[in-house]
Amino acid sequence: MDDSRETQSVNAFVTGYPVRHSRSPLIHGYWLKQLGLAGTYRAHEVAAEDFAAFIASLKDGTSGFVGGNVTIPHKEAAFKLADRPDELSEELGASNTLWLENGKLHATNTDGRGFTANLDERHPGWDRSDRAVILGAGGASRAVIQAVRDRGFKEIHVVNRTIERAQELADRFGERVHAHPMTALGEVMQDAGLFINTTSLGMDGEAAPRIDFSPLAEGAVVTDIVYVPLKTPLLAQAEEQGFAIVDGLGMLLHQAVPGFEKWFGKRPAVDETLRALIIADMEKH
Ligand code: ATR
Repeated sequence: MDDSRETQSVNAFVTGYPVRHSRSPLIHGYWLKQLGLAGTYRAHEVAAEDFAAFIASLKDGTSGFVGGNVTIPHKEAAFKLADRPDELSEELGASNTLWLENGKLHATNTDGRGFTANLDERHPGWDRSDRAVILGAGGASRAVIQAVRDRGFKEIHVVNRTIERAQELADRFGERVHAHPMTALGEVMQDAGLFINTTSLGMDGEAAPRIDFSPLAEGAVVTDIVYVPLKTPLLAQAEEQGFAIVDGLGMLLHQAVPGFEKWFGKRPAVDETLRALIIADMEKH
């Protein structure tokens, strides 16, 4: 590690368009204070047409940043413009975390690690079964499919309204991943030990369809990557039907850990105070 970090302020960003609603500055700000580090982490809005120039300034050191997070709509461009994307981002074709190392811009995608770390923390044993069902085939489901596959699930069933999108992901992520239309949901849920919603169904108070979770295996866990509201309509239904549930807030918190460690040199912890801080912020908006 560079010793100058002890005395100099290290600056990191979250960029997107728009980016002002990002809760990442709250998360990293909490850790910087908790660990007593002289760093900054701030939202830095960049429009699509300016993104390549921003990355160029990051690479040549004139931006003043050591790295940062990338959110919608720049994740694909960040992957393409990085000098050293890792294997996880190569397969996803998207990166959410960038950092400079020996003059090169490295990139990874931490969403999958956030997803698994959240379940490891809140429901140990979630990975004991062979079969998982993933509802949704949008951008957000990719890192989840990858993470569930890499954790060792043998059968991963992706169910989506638009079957073509699910098929595209099954082709991308290999033979353990299967695509299905919505009508097959009940059938593929049979004996599955893990159910994940990656769609926007039930987000921000929208209505969600009724799902019968009873085909799931006994002891199955149901999780949602949406965390607004914390208990989404799908999670509420699963709980009523007697299944364990895990909300998606922890994924947001845990996906932030690897970036923080790269930029600021210390591994932060996801704790209850941080969780409460974000929940309080959610209640304000
Ligand atoms: P993201 O990148 O956040 O995942 P997205 O690419 O727009 O967003 O994907 C949203 C997901 O929610 C998709 O799987 C979408 O299904 P389609 O691929 O058929 O569009 C799913 N979704 C959104 N609204 C839905 C609805 N009313 N019924 C079923 N699925 C829905």
